[in-house]
Amino acid sequence: MKLARFSRIGFILAAAGSAVGLGNIWKFPYITGENGGGAFVFVYLITVMIIGFSLMIAEMMIGYLGRRDSVSNFEDLAPRHKNFWKYGGFMSLAGLIIMIFYSPVIGWTFHFILLSLGSLPSSIELAEKSFTEFISIDLGSQLFYHTLVFIFVTAVVARGIKGGIEKLNFLLMPVLIITISGMFFYATTLAGFTQAWDFMFSSDWSKVTSASLVTAVGHAFFTLSLGMATILTYSASLPKDSNLVRSSLIIIALDTGIALLAGLTLFTFLYEYGAELSAGPGLVFISLPTVFYEMGFLGNIFAFVFFVALASAGLTSAVSLVEPIIQYLIDRFSLSRLKASLASGLFFYLFGIVAILSISKEYGHYFTFGSKNFFDWADFMTASVMLPMGGLIMAVFVGHVIEKERVASLLKTQLGMIYPLWYFSLRYIVPVALFVVMLNLVGILEL
Ligand code: TRP
Repeated sequence: MKLARFSRIGFILAAAGSAVGLGNIWKFPYITGENGGGAFVFVYLITVMIIGFSLMIAEMMIGYLGRRDSVSNFEDLAPRHKNFWKYGGFMSLAGLIIMIFYSPVIGWTFHFILLSLGSLPSSIELAEKSFTEFISIDLGSQLFYHTLVFIFVTAVVARGIKGGIEKLNFLLMPVLIITISGMFFYATTLAGFTQAWDFMFSSDWSKVTSASLVTAVGHAFFTLSLGMATILTYSASLPKDSNLVRSSLIIIALDTGIALLAGLTLFTFLYEYGAELSAGPGLVFISLPTVFYEMGFLGNIFAFVFFVALASAGLTSAVSLVEPIIQYLIDRFSLSRLKASLASGLFFYLFGIVAILSISKEYGHYFTFGSKNFFDWADFMTASVMLPMGGLIMAVFVGHVIEKERVASLLKTQLGMIYPLWYFSLRYIVPVALFVVMLNLVGILEL
């Protein structure tokens, strides 16, 4: 199967659109708040620079050399034991599992776009009450928004790489970059900005626990879209003679830049209006709306702009979560793109409904297993288990399985002086770090 190709800039936008998602604007600020700020941010940045950079190039290389879907690429590139290595490609299933909770959360952002047009909650208590009621009682609205996300995402991917995914990113990425930078510049004029800066960049190591290390490393994967064949699948459609190193650097810079801008902006607003920083997942859905209320009319505009940015970020990531499986279905089972898009769409749509039920007051207990409900399990199993495992498989595959000469002939000139460092990091540092993360998880699972 020949794949349609991205344009050069189309690829960068699509990969950055995948990387910049709810992870940057919703998750990064709240886990930074929960884990005490500076030291956590430091660990995250180091992980992104070392592990993220090494793996991004490795994952791109598998796609660029293989040019097919993830399973076929592992099979084609493995010098031997092809039947074993092809299972590496099934890490793309993680994308559909992420979508089980990702789609309902994008739905929440739709709800908040509408809210921002009307009246915002005037106190934290009211904000909390309205958000809690929305996610635990208002099943109808959530289902409605989740259905919209399903239709939208399926319609985009059904149009293919060029006509769907590339177009969407050309449209939404500028919206995202302009809105986030605009709000950031406003934030720099407020007094709370210095406090936000201190919170994010002055490290208090006493707050760093092994659990927060694991969270930081796990988040570095999640935010860069690594470990589940998204980058691999997009790279299979790269134009010939692309520079993988330069592309990786731009994508990582955009992703990290937007996370830091979003974090600084939110914390400035929260400090300025005396709201709680460690509010957890409710940070942007509970604390922030009250801050916007305090700002008066300007707040309504900011709220609207902010939730549009959040929805855009979510949608460009969502298409990248389903695309790997779609390409697999097309390539291996000769399904039409439409059928493949519908099949993967229906998967996350139906399980997404279960996820919505699992956080509801009325049906939650039917869908709670052990310490977590279905929604949280989907998050935990992917971000904390499947992605690090996927990353480990890719690092071992490129670092130890594919012939050395093949890797060198593609990357030696592109990486220049740092080639040996990159190869060493991929062969040893990345696998050891990921292995430790997974050992730690076992400890956490036993709790
Ligand atoms: N990176 C996205 C975010 O930060 C989520 C995402 C999209 C993702 N594609 C992925 C995560 C592939 C892991 C793997 O929200």
